[in-house]
Amino acid sequence: MKRIPIVAGNWKMHKTIAEARALVDGLKPGVAGLTGVEVVVCPPYTALAAVREAIEGSAIALGAQDVFWKEKGAYTSQVAPSMLVDAGCRYVIIGHSENRGRFGVPEPEMTEALLRWFGETDESVNVKTKAALAAGLIPIVCVGETLDERRAGKTDEVIAGQVERGLAGLTAEQVGGMVIAYEPVWAIGTGETCDTPEANRVCGMIRSVVERVFGADAAQAVRIQYGGSVKPGNAKELFSQEHIDGGLVGGAALEAESFTQIVRAALS
Ligand code: PGA
Repeated sequence: MKRIPIVAGNWKMHKTIAEARALVDGLKPGVAGLTGVEVVVCPPYTALAAVREAIEGSAIALGAQDVFWKEKGAYTSQVAPSMLVDAGCRYVIIGHSENRGRFGVPEPEMTEALLRWFGETDESVNVKTKAALAAGLIPIVCVGETLDERRAGKTDEVIAGQVERGLAGLTAEQVGGMVIAYEPVWAIGTGETCDTPEANRVCGMIRSVVERVFGADAAQAVRIQYGGSVKPGNAKELFSQEHIDGGLVGGAALEAESFTQIVRAALS
């Protein structure tokens, strides 16, 4: 079975409403009529409505960058899965390393006390993923090791744990329909890419964890993206690997030209 690659732009905390519209207008011609790749943009919440309007009639899908696990209630600042569906989202990023307080680029002013603000854990990833699936959203669950973990030889152990705890209790069918993004923390926003064979090896390891826990069908179907300094220059090589089914793109998704090239790199 051939998996359809998926390339998602994680805009993070970038783009005003006007800038978001302009970016989508720039993207549309370059991705029009493409089949064989799914294209997703994940703007900040404030631009979801404008981007929904701007992508109408195109094959670009809308995603959000986070979600809460409750449907409604006294949860100031949080956004429910059904609200994202209502806003036109089909995808949602869950458990991004920046939400877990794990940053690729050290930020000196980010003290321990400030870092604690980023409270995502494998357990919160798990409840968010379940809630997103129940609402009909497709989760893009992010996993990845820090540089210290890699140097300590703990990459596989850390990632396997994140996958097992993040996806605990899901059905094989749910896992087969979702997306996992392997994003080595040290490669995010740093310009450092994980070398291609190693990125493919880790994505294959993730697939084997999925197989062990959820079975061969789920492992065959789940799409596993690579993320971390994906650029037009390295996308083709990364995306042509057996276990890499597209990418989660940060910096290079902020300009139409580079994101379009990356999307096209996923076409076989
Ligand atoms: P980057 O970010 O492409 O800017 O490294 C990727 C991500 O964090 O999803």
